[in-house]
Amino acid sequence: MATTETAETTRRDFLYIATGAVGAVGAAALIWPFISQLQPDASVLALSTTEVDLSQIAEGQIVTVKWRGKPIFVWNRTPDDITKAKDVQLSALLDPVARNANLPADAPATDENRAAKDKEKWLVVIGICTHLGCVPIGHSGEYDGWFCPCHGSEYDSAGRVRRGPAPENLPIPPYQFVSDTKISIG
Ligand code: FES
Repeated sequence: MATTETAETTRRDFLYIATGAVGAVGAAALIWPFISQLQPDASVLALSTTEVDLSQIAEGQIVTVKWRGKPIFVWNRTPDDITKAKDVQLSALLDPVARNANLPADAPATDENRAAKDKEKWLVVIGICTHLGCVPIGHSGEYDGWFCPCHGSEYDSAGRVRRGPAPENLPIPPYQFVSDTKISIG
């Protein structure tokens, strides 16, 4: 008698579990299209990289391009801009980390780690102040880089924050040279 009850209980449990499992799969199948449609569509993915023709940027000029909806500053630095950035001691920086997506996360914020590899005149940064997200103004401020008009943060000619309240250097997006005069961001 006791054996029959156990067998019935086991069979009932199995039916419960099987029904529950089918229900869960059905619910997931129902929900997925709603989740899936929140993913970026093909037109957004197509914009995931942006190419910039550097031959159009004069020495000393900063141009702003758009990448994934963000402003990217591309600066063709003069020798003077580079020298000023190189002369800064790491100990003088508010943020000693390079913030360069192309380098290890703990790379120090030397000018070499901020500028383009083997092409130090090019500086490519995301043009969003690391304080509260305003767009800083180029060729401004005491440190010859950018000045953020919202709360007065200043960045130097390597895009490193030199006066707060911004806590971090302007981040450097992933990019690479696809030719001597063209970079691909993203
Ligand atoms: S947003 Fe730039 S200083 Fe506040």
